[in-house]
Amino acid sequence: MAMKPPDPQVVVIFGASGDLTRRKLLPALYHLFVENMLPEGFAVVGYSRSGLSDEDFRARARDALERFARCSVDAEAWSEFARRLSYVSGGFDGSNAMDHLRGHLDAIDRRHRTQGGRLYYAATPPAAYPSIAARLSQCGLHEAGRIVVEKPFGEDLASARALNAHLHLGFDESQIFRIDHYLGKETIQNILALRFANGMFEPIWNRRYVDSVQITVAEEIGIEGRATFYEETGTIRDMVQTHLLQVLTFVAMEPPVSLEPDRLRDEKVRVLRSMRPVDPRRVVRGQFQGYRDQPGVSAGSQAETYAALQVEMDNWRWAGVPFHLRTGKRMNRKLTEVSLLFRHVPFNVFGPADGPGPVRDALVVRVQPEEGISIHLNVKKPGVGLMDVERASLDFDYEKTFSTPLLEAYELLLLEAMMGDHTLFTREDEVERAWEVLAPVLRDPPPVVPYAPGSWGPPEADALLGPVR
Ligand code: BG6
Repeated sequence: MAMKPPDPQVVVIFGASGDLTRRKLLPALYHLFVENMLPEGFAVVGYSRSGLSDEDFRARARDALERFARCSVDAEAWSEFARRLSYVSGGFDGSNAMDHLRGHLDAIDRRHRTQGGRLYYAATPPAAYPSIAARLSQCGLHEAGRIVVEKPFGEDLASARALNAHLHLGFDESQIFRIDHYLGKETIQNILALRFANGMFEPIWNRRYVDSVQITVAEEIGIEGRATFYEETGTIRDMVQTHLLQVLTFVAMEPPVSLEPDRLRDEKVRVLRSMRPVDPRRVVRGQFQGYRDQPGVSAGSQAETYAALQVEMDNWRWAGVPFHLRTGKRMNRKLTEVSLLFRHVPFNVFGPADGPGPVRDALVVRVQPEEGISIHLNVKKPGVGLMDVERASLDFDYEKTFSTPLLEAYELLLLEAMMGDHTLFTREDEVERAWEVLAPVLRDPPPVVPYAPGSWGPPEADALLGPVR
């Protein structure tokens, strides 16, 4: 893939012995490396409390790649990559906690010609972010650096504001990259191309033609040993405040004046500002049966593993159009989709005048799996005499159309952060407004209702939103 690689730099991963580093970050960096998308002057420094040597860190990295990399681990590429890996053991407390990191980075600059470029990646639990930002600035390491922080950004509006204030003590907004990996998915970015690079959809992309919008993120997996996190966080904070609202902004935004990061983000914020704060009576929180038997989950847990919400916007484009957001774990299958359901024809000539009429047209963006776009519509069934209509689809499939394999979300976002491009990262005001919109339901959550693992969620959600398309 021909592109100019980012400037020389060291990627410093805080939380280097953790799960995110193993499952996502190291495999993503390795893949970018073998695809020649990284600069010649490039190195990775792992930092965490665990007392590991460079060799231990490399052995762990090798194991992570064997298990999670998308490509096979080639001996030559691995030895080139491994040469660029090193490890510093340390904590985040005490103003001089990172002094030795500073010396290490200077040595790396000399060894790997990384020229003082730094990308700090906070892959730790969020509680450590303020200390990481504070220590980096106390050691003067923030000056030439960018910092990537993982979600969740706080647990409500007040904590998000406090976190943003902490980050800003050392870094200004142009240095901060809040990652939401859904924005790294090609199919989510393609919503913008579908809407703004084609003339045919935008005229009907509004309340006059659209009856409702469904955003569904169903997962087959459960909580995967993350009981402590899920007990504290739950699906609304983990998935809705982040991924689902981000997807919603792409679907609902006005055409941006350019794709400049801040012009795009301005439009996303306008969507969030036009959203009505969520009414808890329009929310169903579900919990899959068996969740309370998982180790680390309390017997009377009220943490939700599923959420269905009806949200509305007060603006000219969307007034009166319900947006149905649904997401859950242990559901029937993995499926992420955005569906626009169009209004019924005003008069049905195909059946009894008082009959239900043809099924509504739908435009579906298949985010994953089988990435693509479908338009479901009614066509005439072949045959003489009767004018019967039946459902048919127009389908676009990424894999069939493009031979280039899609970059994985973390690969793309790491690269964008290394290049300093904020387009696919969330801005401070976006994150804060997203918390504000959810505040009523976080303050006054309805009790959780059970649902069967392998189902499409609790029946109460279908009663509120109708069935999944
Ligand atoms: C993460 C959530 O952000 O996204 C997880 O913390 C969830 O709970 C995951 O499983 C889903 O991501 P994807 O890319 O598999 O849809």
